[in-house]
Parts: sequence; C-alpha cells; structure tokens
Amino acid sequence: MQKYVINGGRKLEGIIDVQGSKNASLPILAASILNGGINIIHDIPSIADVAIMLDILKGLGCNVVTEGKTVSIDSSTINNTHVSDELVSLMRSSFILLGALLSKNEEVIFSYPGGCTIGRRPIDIHLKALREMGAEISELCGYIICKASKLKGADISLDFPSVGATENIILAAVKAQGQTVIRNAAKEPEIVDLQGYLNSIGAVVSGAGTDTIYIEGVSALHDTQYHIMKDRIVAGTYIAACNMTGGDVLLKGINKEMLGAIYPVMASAGAILKSDDSGVRVKSNAKVLPIGRITTMPYPGFPTDMQPQITTMLSIADGVSVVKETIFENRFRYIAQLQKMGTDIITEGNSVLIKGVKRLHGAKVYAEDLRAGAALIMAALKANERSEVYGINFVKRGYDNIEGVLAQVGADITLSD
Ligand code: UD1
Repeated sequence: MQKYVINGGRKLEGIIDVQGSKNASLPILAASILNGGINIIHDIPSIADVAIMLDILKGLGCNVVTEGKTVSIDSSTINNTHVSDELVSLMRSSFILLGALLSKNEEVIFSYPGGCTIGRRPIDIHLKALREMGAEISELCGYIICKASKLKGADISLDFPSVGATENIILAAVKAQGQTVIRNAAKEPEIVDLQGYLNSIGAVVSGAGTDTIYIEGVSALHDTQYHIMKDRIVAGTYIAACNMTGGDVLLKGINKEMLGAIYPVMASAGAILKSDDSGVRVKSNAKVLPIGRITTMPYPGFPTDMQPQITTMLSIADGVSVVKETIFENRFRYIAQLQKMGTDIITEGNSVLIKGVKRLHGAKVYAEDLRAGAALIMAALKANERSEVYGINFVKRGYDNIEGVLAQVGADITLSD
C-alpha cells in the first residue's frame, strides 16, 4: 500500500505557488458541457477528482486534451447523456452535472452520488430546486430519473446554503426559460468563480458571493478561455503546516481576502502573516497559540474543509481550544489517528476539546478522507520521529503533488510503496 514517509521536525522555508482550486475546477468543468463549443481552462490542478470529472466529460463524448495545467474541452461532440455509475460513485461532485445535463436533454438518469465518507450528504435541496424549475423527478433502485422538456426559471429559496445545490441550480438555469433567482444561496468564492466562467461563455449570472443570485436564461453560448482561481483550502493547509513547524513560506497567488476567515484565525493562532501583491507570507516560530473556540460555518464563516487542519495545528498549542463542526456530522474520525501521535483531544458530539501537548511522536496513521489526510501529514511534519501516512488516494483527490510541494520547502517527505 502506498504511503507518505515523513521524518518530521524540519522547518518549512521557501516559496509555494498555490495550485488552482479543486472546488472551482469541478463545477466549471461540469459547466463546460453547456456551450457546445471550445473551453480552454487554465490553472487546473492535477488531482484525482479533476481526473474523474474529465473522464466523465470524455464519457459524454467531449473531446478533452490536457497540456500541463491547461485543459481544452470541446463539448460540441457530446453524444451521450448518461454519466458512468462507477465514476459517479467515486465522486459526489459529479452530481453538479445533473443541472447542466438536464438543461440540454429531456431525460437524464443519474445514480446516487458517492464521495468522501464525512457525513450523510443528502441531495434533497438539489432535487427540490430542480422540481421547482419544472423537472419531474422519480427515484428507482438507486437511480434518479429526471425529465424536463424545457426547464423554466423559478424563484428558489434554499433551506440551507448548500454549495453543490447552488451550483447545480445555476447550471440548470443558464439556458432555462426566463429568470431564476436563488435565495439563501451559498456565498463561497468558488461560486463567484463559476459565475465568472459562465459569463465568459455568454451566460447572464449576477449576485454570486451574496445570498441572492440571479440567472437570466439565454439561448446561445460561445467559446471561452478561463483561469481558475487559487485553492484557498490548500493555501490554508500550508499556512497551518508552517505555523506548526516554524519557518517562513511565501504562498504565491493568494491574498488575505481570498482566505476569508482562515486568515484571522491563523493570525490569532500565532502565525505572522503579511498579504501583498506577491502573495501571503507566513512566518512562525513554531509556538502555536490556543484560540478559544471556533465553529465551522458556511462562507464567510470558518470552512469545514479546514477543520481537521486547524484541530491538528491546535493540538500543539500552548493551552486549550474548542473546535465545533456544524456542516458534516462525521468529520472527527481522524482524531483517533492523531491520538496515536500523542495528542490530547476529547471528542464530545460535534465538538472537540483540544489540550495542547508539547510534542508529537511519529506513528503509522491512516487517513479516511481528503482533509484528514492533509491534517495527518501536518502532524507528521511536526513529530520528531518517522511517520507513515496511509490513505494517500484521499489526499490525491485534492492536493496536487503535496509531497513535491512540501519537499521543495524543506520537508523530509517521500511517496513510498
Ligand atoms: C462542497 C465542497 C466541499 C465542502 C462543502 C461545504 C465542492 C466540490 N465540495 O460540498 O469541499 O466541504 O461544500 O463547504 O465544492 N445538504 C443537504 N441536502 C442537500 C445538499 C446538502 O442536507 O441537498 C447538507 C449536507 O449534508 C451538508 C451541508 O448541507 O451537511 C453542506 O453541504 P454542501 O454545501 O452541499 O456541500 P457540497 O456541495 O457537497
């Protein structure tokens, strides 16, 4: 079984060019089927989830060519409406294709989506909204059957600002008849990036980044070139790693605004941060400060995708912190792995009480989801001895060459069989 072998205790020093965003790439790649033309998308990260999405697009008949970080998708050649069940089971975000496929076809059959096992992750908000746009939806033996001769714009209020549902509705609405309004929409920066891409193909979308999004249906779209935004969660992970290990790292391509709530939280945990045109520079003397209490929330709150990393960083703080998870109910399973490395963390319901310890020791640890994998790597970078981190397939879903990036800034990390 492949693993990361890490000899911890080294400072991180140097420059990291932050990869393109996973959560912006996936909906934008899904949206590329809408224009029935050429999409040249730059700064796509080389990660497993992107590879799955590209395989799905190929399966639909798109002509896909990857050259470095640029992907060219010709969606004029689409000749199929069915997304492979196997690929859907591998990645939950494949479900954002439903809205786009339904806007082009009268019937779409989709199997229930899979993905990281961090919670139940239902799709009721997606389906309710598509019904409000005129889709007839039935469920049979693990399949969702959606029919709509022509989707119609609607005024949709979400019960919860789901990121995926907001994206699915936007994609369904781009070519629908009339105006769609999404209220209580997710406000994540990746949705702003999706809006930017869609408007670049001739869609008329506004309001992304606020809680009300407007989409005017159009009948024709055109070719585009687009640059994907940087990945704020990957950047946050490297800041947290540097704050734990000590060092001085410049994260190129991001800024304070892009990091949202991550920036002040890292600063209050002792990281010395500076944001300017060159990026965000993080300096640290490896003395992590406790931060009292932090709760994960939809954007602009603290992101659930940084919860394992912040908990891990606080495990060596000089005092007690509490982290509460409100988005996914099953996101603390990595704590048992961290305990093997000497942390003192008590889980109670959807919160953890973290008592900082002076040192972590090396161990064999197993990741069960993407961000947990990143957190275990961070702990191993801090530990004094050798660690082995398993579950690298999860890490590869979202981190582009994490071992190469970390090694380049001084970490002793290798990928080994
Ligand atoms: C997206 C992100 C993921 C991030 C999450 C929350 C992508 C590809 N993934 O996932 O990295 O952790 O946002 O910021 O962008 N829910 C329902 N019914 C639904 C939809 C969601 O109850 O129909 C619930 C979920 O179970 C969860 C919460 O809403 O508890 C948040 O889910 P959502 O915002 O939809 O997350 P994803 O789009 O799956």
